[in-house]
This record gives sequence, structure tokens and C-alpha cells, in this order.
Amino acid sequence: MKNTPVFIIVWFATLSILVATAWWIVTQTTRNWFERDVTLRSDLVASSVRHALLQDSGLENIDRLRELLRDIARDERILAASLCNPEMRRITATPGFPNSLSCQKVGPYVHVTKGGAQGPWTAWREITELPPGGQVHVSAIPLMDDLRTYGFIVLIQDLSFVARREDSTQRFLLWAFVVLATLASIVTLISSRLLRRGWSKELREMARGDSGRRSPEFAPLLSDLRDLLERLAKEEQSELLGGVWTPQRLKLTLQRHLHGERIIVVANREPYIHDRAPDGGIRVLHPASGLVSALEPVMRACSGVWIAHGAGSADRETVDARDHVRVPPGEQSYSVRRLWLTPDEERGYYYGFANEGLWPLCHVVHARPIFRAEDWQYYRAVNEKFADAVCQEVDTPDPVILVQDYHFALLPRLLRDRLPHSTILTFWHIPWPNAEQLSICPWHVEIVEGLLGSSILGFQTQHHCNNFLHAADRFLESRLDREDFAVIRKQRRTLVRAYPISVEWPHHWAAAAPPIAQCRMEVRAELQLPENAKLGVGVDRLDYTKGIEERFRAIERLLDREPEWIGCFSFLQIASPSRTKIKRYDRLSPDLEQLAQRINTRFETADWRPIILRRQHTEPPDVFRLYRAADLCYVSSLHDGMNLVAKEYIAARDDETGVLVLSKFTGAAYELAEALIVNPYDLEEASTALSAALRMPLDEQRVRMQAMRRLIAELNVYRWAGRMLVDASRVRRREQLLGLLSVPEAR
Ligand code: F6P
Repeated sequence: MKNTPVFIIVWFATLSILVATAWWIVTQTTRNWFERDVTLRSDLVASSVRHALLQDSGLENIDRLRELLRDIARDERILAASLCNPEMRRITATPGFPNSLSCQKVGPYVHVTKGGAQGPWTAWREITELPPGGQVHVSAIPLMDDLRTYGFIVLIQDLSFVARREDSTQRFLLWAFVVLATLASIVTLISSRLLRRGWSKELREMARGDSGRRSPEFAPLLSDLRDLLERLAKEEQSELLGGVWTPQRLKLTLQRHLHGERIIVVANREPYIHDRAPDGGIRVLHPASGLVSALEPVMRACSGVWIAHGAGSADRETVDARDHVRVPPGEQSYSVRRLWLTPDEERGYYYGFANEGLWPLCHVVHARPIFRAEDWQYYRAVNEKFADAVCQEVDTPDPVILVQDYHFALLPRLLRDRLPHSTILTFWHIPWPNAEQLSICPWHVEIVEGLLGSSILGFQTQHHCNNFLHAADRFLESRLDREDFAVIRKQRRTLVRAYPISVEWPHHWAAAAPPIAQCRMEVRAELQLPENAKLGVGVDRLDYTKGIEERFRAIERLLDREPEWIGCFSFLQIASPSRTKIKRYDRLSPDLEQLAQRINTRFETADWRPIILRRQHTEPPDVFRLYRAADLCYVSSLHDGMNLVAKEYIAARDDETGVLVLSKFTGAAYELAEALIVNPYDLEEASTALSAALRMPLDEQRVRMQAMRRLIAELNVYRWAGRMLVDASRVRRREQLLGLLSVPEAR
């Protein structure tokens, strides 16, 4: 409503001009009416007097004439009257007739004399002021018939009634104008607002593609808008194409496209865990989490705040009064805001709904999901709790919020309700099931609905996007924009896109690690392996989706098929304990131990065993030393969103050797075509691949590794985040443009 004062001034000026013009016209018209009325009245009076004179045959009967004049003066508007003979002498007059209007004075106007010659008799009229101050109309009218002139009558009529009538007519007209003009203005204003609102709504619907209608009058505007959006998209696209993505470039992208210096990440797992060490001190641990290894470099580049569950045993001791701690230790480029969950909340939300329900639901690993109503209540409550925490952290009405993973399916909707102008980028790190599978979850509709609070919903692969689009179409009243891969629900659009996640490049743990030769030597010495022994490595959380049992069985099959590897090939498996409060996970550890033992017992020699199982948390510097020491890395997930161990192994191999054996059921297999891709359930295929990896000449290793390193250098995690941020800015710009088209009241 910036233009309101101008509008009021223009409205007022127009109204004033209209009223002044109307005033003038009315005054002139009423005055003419009244003057004509007075003239008519005096003519009538003169005619009645003439009639009386004719009946009485002249001016002789003075009494009769006086009576006649008195009758005439009874009319309230006739103040006085006098009769004059042709010689201009008064015959009679009503009492109080003013001397200033004597017959001699008025006579010459009635009987005009021109150059001494008598002219014709004629009526004379004048408006004049008479003391004590009143406007009067004086008329002198000759009294004649065809034969003679009897004289003339002088009539004085009161004109003050004219002024009174003029006054009240003008007042009435003035008010009528004001009321009419006000009504007309209000009607115009309301109808123009309604019209504008209608236009704006239609235009926005058309621009969003929500409307089936196409009003031709909007066509030019829409085509301009489309051109503008296309130009912006092209600019952004060209910015995305080519060139290496670095932390600096990501930071610049954030500043340039989203005008922000700070983003808010919500992820259940915190990037740094403060833990009470056995010696009583506090140590900092890096969790075994692909999500953390991907997001952490992004946060270091962009700064902001990471909201997570404070799960470390010394976490509470290391936060400030607002539950914040600056990280990474020593560098302090962003904050972690820790949220405390009660044991019941953790059990219901994390172990229960997220990891016993959604986790097996989303992974095709033949593990039955468990859905408990109580867990669902906790899941909802904890999502609310995180939404409240985000609201406490934001400092603008349109923050950029990165929601991570299956722990927070309801959070995007909760945030959208609380912060309608925020840009919410949700990334689902694990696979998304097909609609049949999804409908196993009793709350699948709420989950899809919750995720549609996002501005952008990212998955690892296009296949998972398609599954989600299908679910939205099937379970909710929504519309799909298949060209733009978007879901439109309740007038809001959520882009559904594949953003395969990646690792930082160059990788700081790789850069910090000792040279390859040193790693090879030291690790073999630690494992008491001969210097030239072949070493394979697997690094995982202890999780049934990772296919560790299948991995061990493939090794067993290899040794069965190719006994020449006995004594000269070992496989080191790092298995970080994970979600151990869940029975399925708890059982996994002894099961694996038994399996490894059984295989080892079959093949071991006095100083050698094929499988070395380390069931303990291992910090990244050690993990990277192992990657660099190993001849091959086997990632055998039975189903995995991406699997960043595969990409980390490639990032670690700056000597450009080493072989990656990779499950075809990982997201990584869609990108890393130069790995040896296997079906981990197929032990023949997997063991053949392990054999091929062990026998692969260095030249071939180099060709494959170089290609994969080139790919990951380009498709690194900064590009992953950058693509999402650029897409987010496009969404934001689109919303702003659509916002511009709407009247502010309509928003
Ligand atoms: O892969 C899913 C995931 O949540 C990752 O995002 C993360 O790396 C991993 O699981 C860690 O699991 P948790 O946080 O339960 O230990």
C-alpha cells in the first residue's frame, strides 16, 4: 500500500473539482429558476390589476384600488406595491412603500424618453438592496389595453427566500455529491482490489502451472516471466557446469545466490562427539557416519549451526549456556547446537521408529520393519522438538535450512508452518522404497506429507525420486509436474531431485595421512603380515545392510576356489558398533565373530589368518591409513543410498592404484563404473571379482583409479551442496517473483 497517500490526494482533488463545478452549475440554475419565478409572479399580479382596471374602467375608484393592492401584498413574498398614473404620480400604495422607489423615479424606466420624444411603455425589472438590508426584486409594469395606458404598477418582492432556497439546495447537492462520490470511490476501490486479487491469483496459478485456464491478456506477462526464469536458470546452470567446486566456491555461491552467510543443518548425528575417555579425560570422536563425513566439510566452508542430538557421554560438559559448542576443535568455524533427548525419546524416536521401522522399510534386505504406535508418538514429538530448536536458532524470516535423513520426515512440514518463507532443503540419505513397500508403514501418508514441506527434496538416485513421486501421486491429493520433477500440493511446489552425495576433494584426512608406502609397510607390520602380502579392507558400521556376512563368505569362496591365496591374502574388516540397543544389531556382532572364526579356522596357518575383524570405533586418520595400505576395498552393501566408504577409498588413493569391488546395490555403483561391480549375494561373482582385483596389473588399476578420481574430484561434496543451494535460490527467486505479482494483502 505504498501508493495510498497519492491515491487519497488524487481522489480528494478530483472530488473537490467535481463539487466546485457542480456548485457553480447549481447556483446558476437555481438563480435563473427563481428569477423567472419572480418575474412570472409580477406579470401575473400586473395582469390581475389590469383586469380589475378594465372592469372598473379606470383609476377613479381609489378605495377599490387600495383594497386591490392590499390583497396583492398579502402574498408573503410581495413586500409592497404602488400604483402610478401615466403622469407618474402615485395613485395609491401599500403601507411602508419606500420613498426611494417613487413613481417619478421609476417612471422613466417604464416610459422611455429618447431625444425628447416619448417612447413605448415597457416593463422594467431590477434586483436591488433595500435598507435595512435585504435583497429585493423591483418590477414596474405598465397597465395598458389596446385603447389606453392606465399607468404602471410597482411591485417589490422579497428575494431573501431565494437566497435561503439556494442555500439549502446547495447544501443538499453538496452532501449528495459527497455521499455519491464516496460510495462510488468505495465501490471502485473494492472492485479494483477484487479484480487485482483475482488477476493476481490467476496469474500466479498460471505461472505456477496450477491452473488449467489460460487468459490471453496474461500471455505477454507470462512469457516475459518465463523468459526471465529461463535466463536465470541458464545463468545458474552455466555456473554449475564445469570448473572445480571448492569450499570457497561453495561459500561464494551461498552468499551470491542466497544472500546468506549461515545455514542451519538439522541431522540426528552430531559431527563431533565429546566422550568421557577411560583415563577420565574428555576426548573428541568422529562418528562413523557417511552423513557426517559429507556434511561436515560443507559446514566448515559455509559456517552456521548444526543442530543434533547430543549423545556423547561428555557432551553436556562441553556446551555453553545455550547448549552450543564451536567446532571443529581448534578451527571453530561453525557451531553445534546440542539437543538433549530423554531415554524414552531416544528409544522411541531413534531406536524405535527410525531404526526399527523406517530403516528396514527403506532397505531391501529382508528385515521385517517394526512399527509401534508409541514409537511414532515419540518420533513426532522429537521432530517437534527439533523444529522448536530451529526456530530458536534462526535470525531471519527466510533462513536456509538443511534437513537430513529419515530421522526427520515430519520436520519439513513443521518448519514450513512455523517459518513459511524459509528455504528447506531435505536430503534423504537412504533409499526410498516403492509405493507398495512404503504403505507397510501405518503412517506413510503423514511421512510423505511431512516431506512435502520442503522446498527441495533430494535423493541419491533418480530411481528413488521416481518412487517418491509415485507415492505422492498415489497417497496424497497432489499434482505432479513431470517436466520439472515437482510435486504441487496446497499451492506449494516441492522439487524432487537426485543429488548423489559425495566426499570432500581433496580429502583432508588423505592429505594428512602418511605416504602410501609408509602406510603399506606400517599396517602390514601391525597386522603381522609379510611385507608383500595382499590386503583387502572393509570399513562399515556394524549394520545388517552392509552385507558383511556375504563379504566374509565371498572371501571363503575365493579361498576355496583359489587356494593359492591362502597365506598371502588377508581381509581387514573395521566394524564400528552401531545401534547396539536394537536386538538385530546386537546379534550381528557375535554372528560376525563366529562366521569369521569359522572361516579363519578353515584356512588359517600358524602365522596367518584370512579375516581380521576389528569390532571397534576407528577414528578417520586410522581409517585413511588402512585405505592407503590396502590393495583392494570391498563394499558389499545389500542396499545402500550411496555408500561413501567407496568414495573415501578413491579419495585416499593419491597413488592412483588399488581396486574397488563394489556392490551394484549401492548408489555409488551408478557413478563408479570403473569399479568391479558385483552382486554381493552371488558368491561366485563376488569371489571372481575379488580374485580379479588381487590379480589386476598396476596399469589397469591406474586407468580405473584415475577415471574414478577424476569423477569424484569433479562431483565432490561441494558440488553436491552447491547444486542444491543454486536450485534453492532458483526456487526462492521464483517464489519472490510470484510474490511480486500478488497484492500484499493477498499473501
Ligand atoms: O546411512 C544412513 C545414516 O543415517 C547415515 O546418514 C549415517 O551415516 C549413518 O546412517 C549413521 O547412523 P547412526 O547415526 O544411526 O549411527
